[in-house]
Amino acid sequence: MQKKDELYRGKAKTVFLTDSDDKLVLFFRNDTSAFDGEKIEQLERKGEVNNKFNHYIMQKLEAAGIQTQVEELLSDAECLVKKLDMIPVECVVRNIAAGSMVKRLGVEEGLVLNPPTFEFFLKNDALHDPMVNDYHITAFGWATQDQIEEMKRLTFAVNNVLKPLFEEGGMLLVDYKLEFGLDADGNIVLGDEFTPDGCRLWDKETRKKLDKDRFRQGLGSVVESYIEVAKRIGLEL
Ligand code: C5P
Repeated sequence: MQKKDELYRGKAKTVFLTDSDDKLVLFFRNDTSAFDGEKIEQLERKGEVNNKFNHYIMQKLEAAGIQTQVEELLSDAECLVKKLDMIPVECVVRNIAAGSMVKRLGVEEGLVLNPPTFEFFLKNDALHDPMVNDYHITAFGWATQDQIEEMKRLTFAVNNVLKPLFEEGGMLLVDYKLEFGLDADGNIVLGDEFTPDGCRLWDKETRKKLDKDRFRQGLGSVVESYIEVAKRIGLEL
């Protein structure tokens, strides 16, 4: 497999074409961004840490029968993945209220959500990723109703695998964001990444924030914290 031209440069990852039509390379950069790219910093080792973290989590999900884009770890910061036709929405499940839900609904941070909630957001930086619902998604042709149901099913299936995994490591999985795409056969497959950049994790006892909120809120020790999370779920980085 040979890495070819750059296809797309996101805020934290760059996607490269390969000599195979149906495979891409994800390169995890050290860039860390928040507030729609308003705050950007380079954090040493973050690319490597997130690449290996993502690979580890995706393997756990595959083992539980959830199809993911990941094929193999290629190097410290690169991963070979299946090419997907990405659906331009973000799927967010929340177990505990935090972040934008607290601002939007005026509820207290830390409120346990029973049942966990599901929200769709449109991937559009210029519009600040507005919340959308099933009707917007079908009316604008971003996905069909069946694909919507499958994204919801899979996003909750991920919760059933990862909530206990983090819980065993003494952490609460507060919320997380997933993105899906269609493979060559039209199956909905989990793409993008699952790392502490795209979820909230709190220490169960102290409620210390161990995820990207450390960066957003200027709390420091961002990558150190990601490494600690990895260690607590059995991944030594
Ligand atoms: O900001 P908000 O509270 O809506 O985020 C919910 C979850 O989705 C958080 O874990 C956050 O890190 C993640 N997220 C993300 N990328 C975005 C928006 C949210 O990874 N563009």
